Amino acid sequence: MGKIDGSKYIVASITLNLILIINLCVSGKWKLSWSSQAAIEAETVAAISCSGHGRAFLDGLVLDGKQPICECNSCYQGSDCSNFIPGCAANVDGYVPFLLVQHAASSAVVVAGWHRMSYKFNDHTFISQELERLIRKVHDIVGNAVTDNRFIVFGAGSTQILSAAVYALSADNASSPARVLTSNPYYPLYKMQTELFASVNFEYQGDTSLWKNSSDAGTNMIEFVTSPNNPDGQLNKAVLHGPYAKAIYDRAYYWPHFTPIPAPADEDVMMFTLSKLTGHAGSRFGWAVIKDEAVFQRMTKHIGVTSIGVSRDGQLRALKLLKVVLEREGKEIFEFGYETMKTRWEKLVKALSLSKRFSLQDIEPQFCTFFQKLRQLSPAYAWLKCEREEEKDCYAVHKAANIIGHEGSVFGAEDRYIRLSMIGTQDEYDLLIDRLNKLVSEEVGAKTMRRMQPSCSLLKISKKNFTTCNIEILRQYYLPSYISISIS
Ligand SMILES: Cc1ncc(COP(=O)(O)O)c(C=O)c1O
Repeated sequence: MGKIDGSKYIVASITLNLILIINLCVSGKWKLSWSSQAAIEAETVAAISCSGHGRAFLDGLVLDGKQPICECNSCYQGSDCSNFIPGCAANVDGYVPFLLVQHAASSAVVVAGWHRMSYKFNDHTFISQELERLIRKVHDIVGNAVTDNRFIVFGAGSTQILSAAVYALSADNASSPARVLTSNPYYPLYKMQTELFASVNFEYQGDTSLWKNSSDAGTNMIEFVTSPNNPDGQLNKAVLHGPYAKAIYDRAYYWPHFTPIPAPADEDVMMFTLSKLTGHAGSRFGWAVIKDEAVFQRMTKHIGVTSIGVSRDGQLRALKLLKVVLEREGKEIFEFGYETMKTRWEKLVKALSLSKRFSLQDIEPQFCTFFQKLRQLSPAYAWLKCEREEEKDCYAVHKAANIIGHEGSVFGAEDRYIRLSMIGTQDEYDLLIDRLNKLVSEEVGAKTMRRMQPSCSLLKISKKNFTTCNIEILRQYYLPSYISISIS
């Protein structure tokens, strides 16, 4: 990163100023006053292109007291991010949201200096009623959760909701702490957070399966159920049942771009987050849908005591973004999101199709009530397994090939698994596919690749191998008609 080309900045700035002035003075329709300077600032920074491999932000580092510098995607550098760093590792263990970037106009927010400066809204709560209404509407059009006669709480991302839910489901004066449990492979923050906040009321006690037959033992069990799961995308269900079993359903990825929506979720405690709906992880906004009023009150108390509610600026941003989601009844954003994810998965499946060394998770295609179709694989992460007996450290295998993922043990699984993010920047994703192609061609040999690809391409879906010879079966059972398969 470095200095941006000053002349480009000045030209962009003057042009935008002119456009705005013409708009304001000549059209005579509406005269902006206090927001015009802020709009010019925002548009000027947005106009810095960073060669398509980075972005400049209003609150980015400023060089020489001038304009913010470009923040480059991984593997790119230079003042305008135009220089590719050869040999750079494809870092796909993270999450860089890609949705909604193209909705610049409708998703922009102008915040007045005096916006919601108070701790509370007029109704003495710390949640925006209008935002709550929009959340119910989004669930309604997507059909992914029942919200009628349910309570809703907001949190600083679903991360804050996690600990509020654990607190709310554990009793204050129980004889023994509630057991907080997860099922392998699980999202690691559940364990980290529960251990950090452990109290006389609850403690982390490992894998759910160990307690399967003792859920009636008189001690509360709080089970985290992640559906779809991070890392493997499975639509998990609670393992524990009975009077002492309580479940926190983490529905972060239960949106049509990541998974089929077979039916509206209707669990006692369900968590959602803006970060996986629109991709705005940085806005830190999540919510829970709750059946029981006492649980709702305890969660509200936890969030009130720990943070006096969610930032009002964050709530305003979330409100604006949900309005964009609701445009055309969600069709635009979810179709775009699903198409993007599906295309990424098709390329990944193709890259690994000839490999016996690596396999992908097995997810059964299901009917999606939102799209009214049988849906294909499009989860947020690839959960890849190294199949060779001697390759127990799949992370090391990939690192040697310049691919950085997340070790299986981070999720309580064997290190023969690795999680690769499918929701990074296009640059990271392209690099991943490139490196995987190289890895697989080394395995099968260039000759085999050449011999097999033109005549008999293999596609591995749900661990079944399909060749062009039985491509009709593949079409019939595994790919909906709108996916065209072209085999040269
Ligand atoms: C399963 C799951 N739950 C919760 C979260 C936290 O999301 P948020 O950004 O809302 O805190 C994540 C983030 O990656 C996640 O994967």
